[in-house]
Amino acid sequence: MASDDNYTEQTLTAINLWSPSLFSLRCSRDAGFRFTAGQFARLGVRKEDGSVVWRAYSMASAPHDEFLEFFSIVVPNGEFTSELRRLRVGDRLLVAKQAMGFLTLDRFVDGHDLWLLASGTGLAPFLSILQGLEVWQRFARVVLVYSARTAGELAYQPLIHTLMQQPHLQEYAERFAYLPLVTREQVPGCLHGRITTLLDNGELERAAGLRLEPAHSRLMICGNPQMIDDTRARLKQRGLQLSLNRRPGQVAVENYW
Ligand SMILES: Cc1cc2nc3c(=O)[nH]c(=O)nc-3n(C[C@H](O)[C@H](O)[C@H](O)COP(=O)(O)OP(=O)(O)OC[C@H]3O[C@@H](n4cnc5c(N)ncnc54)[C@H](O)[C@@H]3O)c2cc1C
Ligand SMILES: NC(=O)c1ccc[n+]([C@@H]2O[C@H](COP(=O)([O-])OP(=O)(O)OC[C@H]3O[C@@H](n4cnc5c(N)ncnc54)[C@H](OP(=O)(O)O)[C@@H]3O)[C@@H](O)[C@H]2O)c1
Repeated sequence: MASDDNYTEQTLTAINLWSPSLFSLRCSRDAGFRFTAGQFARLGVRKEDGSVVWRAYSMASAPHDEFLEFFSIVVPNGEFTSELRRLRVGDRLLVAKQAMGFLTLDRFVDGHDLWLLASGTGLAPFLSILQGLEVWQRFARVVLVYSARTAGELAYQPLIHTLMQQPHLQEYAERFAYLPLVTREQVPGCLHGRITTLLDNGELERAAGLRLEPAHSRLMICGNPQMIDDTRARLKQRGLQLSLNRRPGQVAVENYW
């Protein structure tokens, strides 16, 4: 693969459309590209005029996978996603060599229950984390909360529903709870309402069968910045604070814009 000092050129091997505005891309992975589950890379697409547009994307695939996978929105007239959605299998995707980001399990020094709260494409880093072993070895319970506007925008349902059937995860199956949450329509099997609303009325905790408390709970939140701010404010009122290097806490976040 071609490369320069900062990036390598990878080849797209698969594209999956989840909805008119959501799709996944799988590409080859440079042998030297290393990352921790939860991190992101900068992706580049070459435009027709030869210039390259770059954006941050979380890896949705696991660090042990031989390929890289990314989960993307299509922003109407978005500079990057308008180019990305045009790519086809066999086309090139530029991947910066250095993975980045702190939405990783090492943000927490302890904890019993891990809550992963995602809105929209903020699901991506959690797919990577959930497919690895570390999260299952460290936490007694893992709750994935995934909020989308409509049922048709809940992506990756086959993977999530069969996750714990993967041979290396079977022994941990009872630790996992999946709470899909749809905000703009009533859907059987899904909670109805925003993450924030369901935190306020206690429905999230009831559905998970767990209490949110500083001693036991650790939370990762990813996606819409307003959702993250609003959720953090509620958690703070309950004594759950951002985890910083100088002050270990209960919460880690990644804003997508
Ligand atoms: C650390 C990090 C990781 C990211 N990981 C992902 C990822 O895994 N998948 C992904 O699709 N995007 C991800 N993003 C967002 C991504 O970098 C781009 O913003 C996105 O590709 C849109 O690019 P654009 O040029 O088309 O539009 P931009 O000009 O970048 O964005 C225009 C507007 O679109 C909206 N928007 C941007 N991204 C999203 C999104 N993901 N979901 C909903 N609305 C959005 C916002 O309102 C934003 O202001 C991440 C961003 C950061 C900072
Ligand atoms: N999804 C689409 O059909 C679509 C189509 C074209 C363009 N877009 C554009 O793409 C962008 C984002 O689309 P998206 O649907 O992936 O992301 P999103 O707007 O962040 O919505 C994803 C989920 O997060 C919830 N959410 C949003 N703000 C929240 C908050 N403050 N607190 C708690 N929950 C919150 C939403 O609930 P609510 O439903 O209650 O907001 C929804 O369930 C928008 O700018 C939109 O204009 C979206």
